[in-house]
Amino acid sequence: MIPVGIDVMTFSTAHFVLDVEDLATARGVDFQKYRTGLGLEAMSVPSPQEDIITMGVEAGQRAMARVADPASIRFVLFATESSIDQSKSAGIYIHHFLGLPSSCRVIELKQACYGATAALQLAVAIIRQNPQERALIIASDVARYGLRTKGEPTQGCGAVALIVSAHPRLLQLEETSGTYTRHIMDFWRPNGQDEACVDGRYSTISYLDALEKSWKDFQSRGGVAFEEIACTCYHTPFPRMAEKASTRHAKLVGREKSLDPALLSAALRYNRQVGNCYTAALYVSLLSLLEQASHDFSDQRLGFFSYGSGCVAEFFTGIVPPGYQEVLFPEAHAHTLERRLPLTVPRYEEFYAQSLHPTFVPTPHYPMGPLCFLGIRDQQRHYSLMSSIAQKAS
Ligand code: CAA
Repeated sequence: MIPVGIDVMTFSTAHFVLDVEDLATARGVDFQKYRTGLGLEAMSVPSPQEDIITMGVEAGQRAMARVADPASIRFVLFATESSIDQSKSAGIYIHHFLGLPSSCRVIELKQACYGATAALQLAVAIIRQNPQERALIIASDVARYGLRTKGEPTQGCGAVALIVSAHPRLLQLEETSGTYTRHIMDFWRPNGQDEACVDGRYSTISYLDALEKSWKDFQSRGGVAFEEIACTCYHTPFPRMAEKASTRHAKLVGREKSLDPALLSAALRYNRQVGNCYTAALYVSLLSLLEQASHDFSDQRLGFFSYGSGCVAEFFTGIVPPGYQEVLFPEAHAHTLERRLPLTVPRYEEFYAQSLHPTFVPTPHYPMGPLCFLGIRDQQRHYSLMSSIAQKAS
């Protein structure tokens, strides 16, 4: 069977950052709770002129710069749970600002943080049928629980762009996957609300339960043994959750120890800096692993646990082709994290309030990527394209 999977992948995030130690101090919490208990260092914070589209366009431009034939993009799949419209796909903004061919199909997918994995499996199935075509997946989210809530330290934002193709250079997806779905209310966001509702402790228990169920389904369908997987990336709402998943996974297969701690630590390095970016979080972890681990993954198998509250989960695997290092973007990603400007807690609170009620400001005010969100006028979102980062990506 023709190999299909991720050919190119990159992430972007907002231009501002909040140190979780500052947040802990402001909230009167021992900062070790956030640092050790949740495994966080910082969270990206969008300015009022950044959103899921601006982050998605930046990631999309960088990914598209590595596509030799942009006309081969036949599908744009936008995964998000911080959607900006109840009808129109956010993917159409991406399609427009990236100048993609009008022959593309564009849709938006939703199932909490599982949306990007759904998009990936859908794209892989389509490209297996049409190997000359490519799909662009954008997974972009802003995680919001509300100021002074228990979920507040686990906020963040970011976007990943994935190009799915035949003969991929980054990850060949394997066919077997284990899935699990159950109607639960661990995390949801009712219509008209910008902030998520969450039953925090229940959500962490449900996540681990879904890992067990999807792993068992994976095994029952002939999936490979634990020992045949070099490293697994787990959905990362906060890094400690992925560490707990790794421990639980090892216990499930009767092992004393989870995977190599150095690999797990590498897989979480970007997430510790960005915070939760929902649909993008698992794929940010994959980039972190491939770019930050001093390990050659050529011809090795990686595992993936995707969890979307509500809930749908999937365990799947892929093989990393030799030469994958050529398509990574470690410098661009280091720059993306380092360029962020630190916020004080009062300034973060101002940004937060302004983002919930965007007004129209016709000129860009803040440092930003290639696209500026100007605000809402006549019930329409307005953007201004600033510059191209395509050349910088090569
Ligand atoms: N020093 C070190 N550690 C400390 C500490 C201190 N001073 N104080 C507390 N801790 C530890 C606690 O022992 C705990 O660790 P364990 O879980 O290992 O026992 C950890 O810090 C967190 O403490 P609490 O459980 O008391 O924290 P909390 O009740 O304030 O809330 C949370 C934690 C439930 C994760 C909350 O932040 C939340 O609701 N977040 C959003 C929901 C979420 O992320 N759920 C994850 C699963 S759902 C999912 O994955 C989908 C998604 O993306 C949202």
